[in-house]
Amino acid sequence: MSSISFIGLGGMAGAIAARAVEGGNSVELIGRDAAKAKGLAAELGGGATTGTFGAVPAGDIVVLAVPYTSAVPVVTQYGDALAGKVIIDISNTFNADATGLVTPDGTSGAQEIAKAVPASAHVVKAFNTVFGHVLAQGRPLDVFFAGDDARAKAGVSAFIESLGLRPLDVGGLEMARWLEGVGPLLMGLARNGAGTFDIALSLDLPG
Ligand SMILES: NC(=O)c1ccc[n+]([C@@H]2O[C@H](COP(=O)([O-])OP(=O)(O)OC[C@H]3O[C@@H](n4cnc5c(N)ncnc54)[C@H](OP(=O)(O)O)[C@@H]3O)[C@@H](O)[C@H]2O)c1
Repeated sequence: MSSISFIGLGGMAGAIAARAVEGGNSVELIGRDAAKAKGLAAELGGGATTGTFGAVPAGDIVVLAVPYTSAVPVVTQYGDALAGKVIIDISNTFNADATGLVTPDGTSGAQEIAKAVPASAHVVKAFNTVFGHVLAQGRPLDVFFAGDDARAKAGVSAFIESLGLRPLDVGGLEMARWLEGVGPLLMGLARNGAGTFDIALSLDLPG
């Protein structure tokens, strides 16, 4: 069991948090709208609590569940309150029509977030390759993740397993750019070959 805080209260936070409660994790919900956080906590049940936006989160793992455009400003506002935390960056960084990325070559959203958090915090990229509405269906999905710190990654991997999902490590944080590139890929598949947004990417392993 892990202790998890969510910053952001939208569709992704709700979908991951619901599975987190089901998986027996201790869940804290934090948003800029305290009433909305309380409402989501009540909806989720399972002892989910709420925290104060900008204060030290209760969870060892913090899921940053805000749009990428808000992610760096939010962690900058948190500052030292995120010291020592494992921060899961779930953001997609694609542009308005989902054909490219807003981050320049040679970096990624996750790496930009990592530059903005305290040195003792560890950023792990995960969950951006799954649709929130598909997560909410409770299907067993693959969750690809990337990060530099082995302990942080082990914690995130255990958390992903507790959600009934398969964690798959793609390497260091420099690989986050390619995970972020999966965002437009998934959108292109949904709009074209698959013809539905009710899809998920998975790895086919032998035997
Ligand atoms: N939707 C998907 O299927 C999907 C899949 C993979 C990854 N993602 C990523 O997951 C993240 C969240 O997506 P979502 O679909 O959950 O979005 P969403 O439903 O629009 O929710 C975004 C949340 O972020 C909060 N927020 C935005 N700017 C903020 C700021 N400056 N300070 C504090 N809170 C702020 C919003 O607060 P209010 O509630 O106060 O408006 C809201 O609770 C995004 O980075 C997205 O790229 C989404």
